[in-house]
Amino acid sequence: MEKFESYLASLEQDFQPSRTRDAMFYSLLAGGKRVRPRLLFELLKGYGQSEEFGYPCAAAIEMIHTYSLIHDDLPAMDNDTLRRGRKTCHIAFDEATAILAGDALLTQAFQVVLRSTCTNDIKVGLVTLLSQYAGIDGMILGQTYDMEAEQASMLSIEQLEEVHRHKTGKLLTLPLLCAALLSNHLEDIDLLKQIGDDIGLSFQIQDDIMDVIATQEELGKSTSDEKNHKVTYVSLLGIEQAQSLCDQYYERAIQMLDQIHADTIGLRTFLQKLMVRRN
Ligand code: IPE
Ligand code: IPE
Ligand code: MG
Ligand code: MG
Ligand code: MG
Repeated sequence: MEKFESYLASLEQDFQPSRTRDAMFYSLLAGGKRVRPRLLFELLKGYGQSEEFGYPCAAAIEMIHTYSLIHDDLPAMDNDTLRRGRKTCHIAFDEATAILAGDALLTQAFQVVLRSTCTNDIKVGLVTLLSQYAGIDGMILGQTYDMEAEQASMLSIEQLEEVHRHKTGKLLTLPLLCAALLSNHLEDIDLLKQIGDDIGLSFQIQDDIMDVIATQEELGKSTSDEKNHKVTYVSLLGIEQAQSLCDQYYERAIQMLDQIHADTIGLRTFLQKLMVRRN
């Protein structure tokens, strides 16, 4: 992944120096697990393509993910001060700059994805997927539900599942769909949507569990679900039952991988590591 990190860093020189550019790359290059790029690369390799072929698309998705984190941390949303082992963007810079850095990461992501070395038809497909999965009926809808849920006195498991499916599932499904599109394996799209959905649920339940059991130092980010009155799988079911659901979604995703028209060993190994992550 070092080469991909250099690719991400190299994007900075394409833009004029500005405080907003500094804030964009402060957050983008702060580390992070790069889960979404890895999902894209592992599936792409499974389809017989090189990792590098996916760099522009993976960078675009990581830029959109980073924007979602910068805005998620703002005082008007989760109001957090630590992210990726550093001060959150609005603390290191200021609120206005953090909002603009998020706006810029989102906008430039579309320019970066167009650098993919594929046909124009596939580029149109990638742009469509990026906007659908990040947009108003994608991740943003999930964040909308998440904010509304802070005010709700009670949320059912079904409603909470909808929050997770959108706020987290959409951006984890996106790299899988992009890998299939870049590799001309459209026959796998429907199944990959289900797999991404389950990975998303499992990943967010784990995130909710870690918010309770891990320290901010271990996670490199603020733990604030309780303070923010978030309804989570842990608050609804307790840690044990939440973990068991997390495992069930993960197992279901792994089983469905059997039906994908790719060598899925790399993806399985990565998902296994993800499931025992500590941050
Ligand atoms: C954090 O995502 C937000 C959630 C969807 C839970 P990650 O856990 O992938 O964060 P980074 O990219 O490693 O910082
Ligand atoms: C955030 O969920 C999901 C998005 C940013 C879209 P959380 O609010 O639980 O993520 P963390 O815990 O701050 O990383
Ligand atoms: Mg949040
Ligand atoms: Mg948050
Ligand atoms: Mg969280």
